[in-house]
Amino acid sequence: MSVTSGMVGDGFYNRNSAPQMAAIEYVLPWLEAAVADMRLDDVPATVGLADFGCSEGRNSIAAMKRLVEACRRRTQRPLLTIHSDLPTNDFSGVFAGLRPAGRSVFDDASVFSAAVGGSMFGQLLPPGSVHFSMSFNALGFLDRRPLKRLPGYVVPNGPSERAGVGQVSDDERATFAMQADRDLQAFLHARAAELVVGGKLLLEVFGASDELRTCDGIYDALNGAMLEVLAAGSIDQRQYEDFYQPVYFRTLDELVAPFAAVESRLAKLYRVDRAECYEVPVSFVEAFHASGDVARYAAAFTNFFRAFTEPVLRSSFAGHPSLDRLIDDIYTRAERLVRDDPARYEFHYLSVAMLLTRRE
Ligand SMILES: C[S@@+](CC[C@H](N)C(=O)[O-])C[C@H]1O[C@@H](n2cnc3c(N)ncnc32)[C@H](O)[C@@H]1O
Repeated sequence: MSVTSGMVGDGFYNRNSAPQMAAIEYVLPWLEAAVADMRLDDVPATVGLADFGCSEGRNSIAAMKRLVEACRRRTQRPLLTIHSDLPTNDFSGVFAGLRPAGRSVFDDASVFSAAVGGSMFGQLLPPGSVHFSMSFNALGFLDRRPLKRLPGYVVPNGPSERAGVGQVSDDERATFAMQADRDLQAFLHARAAELVVGGKLLLEVFGASDELRTCDGIYDALNGAMLEVLAAGSIDQRQYEDFYQPVYFRTLDELVAPFAAVESRLAKLYRVDRAECYEVPVSFVEAFHASGDVARYAAAFTNFFRAFTEPVLRSSFAGHPSLDRLIDDIYTRAERLVRDDPARYEFHYLSVAMLLTRRE
């Protein structure tokens, strides 16, 4: 069983994921350059293109369109686009997005599409069937909860220096870093089994550096709201301490670590073509700087992180007698905290990404 059921569905993730798309946009030129000079053998006849962690599909399909166009500059062979996520993901937006007005969104009679439910930490596709694999903003969601509880904060990377409320010990943090490394290795081995020799893997995920961390601001506001519902008696101390979001924000060093070891099995499976840590502008932050409309900013920021934190919050408090009210109360409080003091919850979107080639 995975530790999350996916994102908030019914189009909510699609409507509140512009920052993730900005992070994807940054690496799409890598994808285009990689396709331009990748090896394309005659077999298998169909060129397989896969995206792991596609959620409701808007961003996945946008990236896939660019990949399809890049492939069409190289070959007229049939293409199969595969959009994969957890079986509990809301795939209805994916299907609707793939066939608007009853026709393929790729507008090409020789492009076929499929959705596959399953965890990306295992192999999901036939051996040697994929030419280009990608995953965006997904790998940080851990495969399992390595600790039963995280008593001092709501996410393993700990609070921001700016907000400074809460703590995660070095030992706790190291346990999550090890889980994240195991997950990364499992993901890489699974994709290696699916890729053709010479195939490409583009892996991007929200991250952390010495200066900036994508978790800062988001989880400070969520933690502040959780502490408020604790003080109000809606949850008890034990429930607060048991709750955490099983998400880890990696550094670039952690992303490329599997290839650094001298006897690395993964270094035999892949060549690292490029790797980078980068920040992208966030649309609702820029709009706030331009307009000064703090209420609009707080609402957009809260909806953005609600889209990926609510399902875990819901399952963690599943037995609560008034669950819907509790969840709404938490996000209403988080939004108020951001509105009252936006500087305290300053937000930056930092990504780490790498492009790999499957070796012989
Ligand atoms: C933040 S969304 C990213 C969606 C999209 N790739 C984007 O960039 O907008 C993360 C996605 O990863 C998925 N996910 C989390 N754990 C997963 C797993 N073990 N296997 C497959 N997908 C997973 C979630 O269900 C969610 O749809």
